[in-house]
Amino acid sequence: MKIFQNFDLKERNTLGLRANTKYYTEPESVEELKAILSDDSYNEIPKMVMGEGSNILFTGDYTGLIIHPSIKDIRITDEDADYIYLRAGAGVVWDKLVEFAVDRGWGGIENLSSIPGCVGAAPVQNIGAYGAEAKDTIFRVEYLTFEGLVDKTLSCEECRFGYRDSIFKRELKGRGVITYVTFRLSKIPAINAGYEDVKQAMKGVSEPTIFQVREAISSIRAKKLPDPAVVGNAGSFFKNPVVNKSLALQLKESYQDLKLFPAGENEYKLPAAWLIDKCGFKGSRTGNVGVHANQALVLLAYEGATGEELINLSKTIIKTVKERFNVDIEPEVNIC
Ligand code: EPU
Repeated sequence: MKIFQNFDLKERNTLGLRANTKYYTEPESVEELKAILSDDSYNEIPKMVMGEGSNILFTGDYTGLIIHPSIKDIRITDEDADYIYLRAGAGVVWDKLVEFAVDRGWGGIENLSSIPGCVGAAPVQNIGAYGAEAKDTIFRVEYLTFEGLVDKTLSCEECRFGYRDSIFKRELKGRGVITYVTFRLSKIPAINAGYEDVKQAMKGVSEPTIFQVREAISSIRAKKLPDPAVVGNAGSFFKNPVVNKSLALQLKESYQDLKLFPAGENEYKLPAAWLIDKCGFKGSRTGNVGVHANQALVLLAYEGATGEELINLSKTIIKTVKERFNVDIEPEVNIC
């Protein structure tokens, strides 16, 4: 099992920020992972799990061990008349799993097409897009604890999923490594084309298939979201804020074009992109960082950008949105 020392992370984070980690490893199985973690040299140092690096902002070097799980097998573990249970290794590239499922006609994750990252990260932040969330299909999550190297399994309910949230961002943060995720996919897929952009793309298609939904969503994303190979970015930089009903309705009265999304009792989710856009940041650039011209929720890191520049830009945006709308927005990316 190879452990790299003073490993360069520039190519391993989609923001393309310069940073090194003291140790880096890519275990290909649970056994390899256990072998590394039972080595005393790594007992006392900080440890971090990193997938494809599509949701992380490095503000400096990392002084511990970064584990990039590379467990890549996909297997059917069970099936009945309606469902297929698919167990995928944490290191499977997320969109490869979506492709695998859609190619076989198994529905449930097609709306999550083209989301960057890997399977192991999907439950952590409960990835979501176009009216679907990972939690809708996650059946079981397996992880290995750092302490005692115990194999554990959580049901979907035990993962306590919320909007861009789960137990892995809370009580279990930094406590272990997700190794496998089992998805329950439908053999008789229900098409979910209600999200405005998808509805538009599907106009004129009388009975869309999951393959067509996947194609449409991949093309919407390609138009709206920048390619990290061209300019550094981590997708949505901020979460959409959830505010109380009275503030939401008050804002709606002043701004008719503001869309409100009901989010539980007496609360609404507001599009952070709209708030940032209205403050005039969309398409702007300061030094080596900026705000994407097609989606104001995405911050850009041009060549030479530093984590500090991005943090400063995000602080300016947070402050301006607060002053103008009295709404608090917070980063979605992990700052390290
Ligand atoms: N809008 C603007 N200006 C913009 C962009 C959007 O005013 O520059 C407004 C529009 O009114 C639009 C609304 O904001 O109706 C919502 O925009 P969009 O449909 O693009 O979705 P979003 O809420 O900005 C979320 C996810 C995305 C996901 C899309 C599509 C979060 C933090 N982001 O963005 O996820 O692709 O929905 O479902 O929830 C990601 O997490 O990295 C990501 C890209």
